[in-house]
Amino acid sequence: MTGGAGYIGAHTVRALHAIGRPVIVLDSLELGSAAAVLDLPLVVGDISDEALVEQICRDHEVDTIVHFAAYKNVGESMKLPAKYFHNNVDGTVHLLDAAVRAGVRHVVFSSSCSVYGTPASVPVDESQPIHPESVYAETKAIVERVLHWYGVVHGLESVSLRYFNAAGASFDSAIGEDWTYALNLIPVAIRALLTGDQELQVFGDDYPTPDGTCIRDYIHVDDLAQAHIAAIDYLAAGGDSTAVNVGTGLGSSVFDVLRGIERLAGRPVPHHVVDRRLGDPVSTFSDPARSFAVLGWQPKYGLDEILSTAYRWHVAQLEGPAGPG
Ligand SMILES: NC(=O)c1ccc[n+]([C@@H]2O[C@H](COP(=O)([O-])OP(=O)(O)OC[C@H]3O[C@@H](n4cnc5c(N)ncnc54)[C@H](O)[C@@H]3O)[C@@H](O)[C@H]2O)c1
Repeated sequence: MTGGAGYIGAHTVRALHAIGRPVIVLDSLELGSAAAVLDLPLVVGDISDEALVEQICRDHEVDTIVHFAAYKNVGESMKLPAKYFHNNVDGTVHLLDAAVRAGVRHVVFSSSCSVYGTPASVPVDESQPIHPESVYAETKAIVERVLHWYGVVHGLESVSLRYFNAAGASFDSAIGEDWTYALNLIPVAIRALLTGDQELQVFGDDYPTPDGTCIRDYIHVDDLAQAHIAAIDYLAAGGDSTAVNVGTGLGSSVFDVLRGIERLAGRPVPHHVVDRRLGDPVSTFSDPARSFAVLGWQPKYGLDEILSTAYRWHVAQLEGPAGPG
């Protein structure tokens, strides 16, 4: 598992470990934490180090790579495109070349709903055109195509999971999304509420939605972890390469999220409304039919569990010693 010390990777490591699947993590730790990997095998290194990747795959007889490692900051990708193309695209090509040489047969790839750009209609299904609107999204779309061609040329089968908005934390509050790095609405809103150090900015409340704010599909990180297991099993059973959405099919507005956090905390989230942000789709949420049909996976949790686990985890972080995230 590349990037297994990061937010979604750490939850997936735990989920695999819980069902007795052997996992080895490769992470540079640039944006992840060794503690998040529990006491499972962790190699600190870079996905572009082909010799290292090949050696790990041979030594551990790796048959499937779950590939999380990437940079994910959309705004930064528009300022530093080379950084994103090097790590997310070149890094993946090096990883795949080494993996193919070592006999790896399957890849589960962290793609993103951002490959659709502003969807022509919602819910978004997988037949909608790919239309990235940022360098970050473009790197995901390119890697999907790289995987297609590695399938044609090398017989490497893959599932690209197009995540919607990953959120929430583990139910035991052991791991979650560290707000030091996270720019996503939920950690930023909880930070504004718990620390009071920075008001939340709401980017526009005059959109053509019921409450005027943007709508997104939030998916609990433990549900996401289960989607990876379903994808691994699908490939192991001989499934063909494919791309599937991983979302709930339900849209929540920015104000839905704020109201949910306020109910948990019993006080308001300090926020103010600013101008719309360029490139923000008004509304995007998934059509989850294909993930169920192909992978047999469907989410168990909704916004309530996402907000309550995230809130509990952040409170625990403030109260106790810094934990993994
Ligand atoms: N968080 C979301 O809502 C979301 C949505 C869609 C897609 N994704 C994708 O899912 C994946 C995981 O996201 P996350 O939220 O867990 O991110 P994260 O930043 O928490 O984790 C990424 C991990 O990859 C590691 N990493 C980065 N470059 C590396 C390299 N070259 N070699 C080795 N390790 C490297 C980092 O140290 C980090 O531990 C990413 O590919 C991201 O683009 C995330």
